[in-house]
Amino acid sequence: METIFAIIGGTGFYQPLSSECLQEIEVNTAYGIVRLQRIDYQGYTVFFLPRHGKEHHLPPHRINYRANIAALKELKVDYVLSTTAVGSLRQEIPRGMFVVIDQFIDLTKSREHTFYDGLEGEVVHTDFTEPYCPHLRHYLCDTLKKRAIPFKTQGTYVCTEGPRYETPAEIKAYASWGGDVVGMTNVPEVTLAREAGLCYASLSLVTNYAAGISLSPLTHQEVVEEMNEKMAVIRDVFMEVIITIPPEKDCRCNFKEDFKLGN
Ligand code: HPA
Repeated sequence: METIFAIIGGTGFYQPLSSECLQEIEVNTAYGIVRLQRIDYQGYTVFFLPRHGKEHHLPPHRINYRANIAALKELKVDYVLSTTAVGSLRQEIPRGMFVVIDQFIDLTKSREHTFYDGLEGEVVHTDFTEPYCPHLRHYLCDTLKKRAIPFKTQGTYVCTEGPRYETPAEIKAYASWGGDVVGMTNVPEVTLAREAGLCYASLSLVTNYAAGISLSPLTHQEVVEEMNEKMAVIRDVFMEVIITIPPEKDCRCNFKEDFKLGN
């Protein structure tokens, strides 16, 4: 069976990986309509979804995470690669560094965060010992290593509600809890992906030192500029992962084969 990929583009990543866009498509899910692009890359089907919309019009707390993941499930996606722009909580993780995050701390407040809301009479508590797909993370790390791109093989992502940036007091607290980077979008994207049985990993790019570590006020502009600078690298890395990752998985992400969304 064909292996199908999706790329969820974060801040600064609004266009698919190549000009080989085959089709603009719409998926009508139980949670809303999702617009994506289908790309053919060296014979692989890749769906591209800009998380904030093509014009960055959706703030983190208004993204329809459930519809996005439900659409990928309906499209029979196996692997989801995403990007996340992050602030660094540590001096030793500078701007421009990539982090293949392996844990998260969830501080979001107002998001639809589960497919299991009990309305179907089913209460499910999903295991999150290993929140990101180890198989996909392995190939992501391998590709970065082969290309001699500076990156960290692990990192804890603190997800805030946003859309405001943090206070220096918050950043100090998050660092003391073991956080490495901070962003606003990875949760509930990652948790919904696991509930849906998708293999999901995120490549975080440090676009700034977080508030209080940075000596100047934070701006969205600097985040976008750093993302733009690294866009070509991210695209290349994702494309190489797509053509090298084997379809056989040794992970437990698809823990519930019979998962049905919104049915
Ligand atoms: N805080 C929250 N989200 C972010 C940051 C930050 O410093 N940088 C990029 N996304």
